[in-house]
Amino acid sequence: MSKIHKAYFCQSCGYESVKWLGRCPSCGAWNTFVEELLTKESGSGGGFSFLPQGNAKPQPVDSISIAPEPRMGLGSGEVDRILGGGLVPGSMVLIGGEPGIGKSTLALQLALKNPLMKTLYVSGEESAQQIKLRADRLGGSGKSCYILSETLLENILAHAQELKPNLIVIDSIQTLASKRIESSSGSISQIRDCAALLLKYAKETGTPVLVIGHITKDGVIAGPKVLEHIVDVVMQFEGDSQHIYRILRATKNRFGATSELGIFEMTGAGLREVSNPSEMLITHHDEPLSGVAIASSVDGVRPFLIEIQALVSTAVYGTPQRSTTGFDIRRLNMLLAVLEKRAGFRLASKDVFLNIAGGLRVTDPAIDLAVAVATLSSSFDLPIPAGCCFAAEVGLSGEVRPVARIDQRISEAEKLGFKKMFASKYNQKGAKKSDGIELIFAGKIEEMLHKLFKQNG
Ligand code: TYD
Ligand code: MG
Repeated sequence: MSKIHKAYFCQSCGYESVKWLGRCPSCGAWNTFVEELLTKESGSGGGFSFLPQGNAKPQPVDSISIAPEPRMGLGSGEVDRILGGGLVPGSMVLIGGEPGIGKSTLALQLALKNPLMKTLYVSGEESAQQIKLRADRLGGSGKSCYILSETLLENILAHAQELKPNLIVIDSIQTLASKRIESSSGSISQIRDCAALLLKYAKETGTPVLVIGHITKDGVIAGPKVLEHIVDVVMQFEGDSQHIYRILRATKNRFGATSELGIFEMTGAGLREVSNPSEMLITHHDEPLSGVAIASSVDGVRPFLIEIQALVSTAVYGTPQRSTTGFDIRRLNMLLAVLEKRAGFRLASKDVFLNIAGGLRVTDPAIDLAVAVATLSSSFDLPIPAGCCFAAEVGLSGEVRPVARIDQRISEAEKLGFKKMFASKYNQKGAKKSDGIELIFAGKIEEMLHKLFKQNG
């Protein structure tokens, strides 16, 4: 017997309450509680028995035998690498990202690329004709890719039972609705219930399910946190939809490392994998320009060189402007304060603009030094000598701090033909010497600037 049960859910974190609340006690958000109707199986407590039911038994870890998981390659080197070597049967993968970033394009492209893989592509957002138009742009074989424009979960699963696909794509979880829940699609209880049913289907039939999820304006996947807890892999699709580069990274992976990332380029015919990002992110100038510095950065385990551009000019207004693209503005303010206080450069009355080329967002602290030298280079209109790159963090007392994975940074720079790399002297021990690139170490920012600029006066 089941009865209707009412509850209030915070739409931002999924907190459940029996009464309406103005402020969520869990996440602190205001006015996010919405009433939702649930059907709840009754009598679960009364007939409870302590006798084991079902076949699962506790067993020692040593006695568990594992069959090698046959992974299903998706035909995209980058995606397979992020997944840790392909999709695991019965796994559920969530892809999150901003609107227009290319989630639907990526999923459709994966389905079309693999003619041997029967895919059921369920779309609650676009009609079959719209998807056909997109598929024509992307090219590839459409014989084994079945499109279903449907939002009712029970129907989707019934079609899946019949079709027996090798992969199910759900675009997107926020558009699905289950008959068992009264509230509208996209609500917390709908998302939670649909995800649980999809997971059950995946585990029972061994079919991997790729779920697309919307993100909120704060950049987290919309819906309850449980969504991220129950899926096996969470991938985030990042980047600026105005720029052509997109980064796909795993933020959770039960079957592999989360440090992998893939870089894609959005072209007129879908997403193209970028296997050598450094070459694309650096512009080759015929003559050295002031305000440009190259940083050797690492994201996850992947090294790449990026171009930092700074423009420093005299402030027109009383309060100087500071603006950044792809870099934390507070970090820039801190670096400017360090340059002012520790190295004696007068930047307080200057406007400073900073830009990371390619539309990427970089959080690696190792680009600090490149940001500092790009700023000074622009301020004095003194170009940084060609062939130099930087990898060090700058501390509050003006110390040049060591960074992780220095060897990878050095070899990436060397591979791209850089002749000199500036790093912290505390990295000196760990850094392998190489003939192709000269390593210059310093412990203080003043010392570093002296070593850099003394060569051209
Ligand atoms: P889409 O995949 O629908 O994004 P999402 O599902 O994440 O909301 O579309 C991404 C954008 O990419 C869209 O604005 C159009 C553009 N695009 C291309 O530039 N080239 C292409 O081949 C395709 C299919 C889309
Ligand atoms: Mg979409």
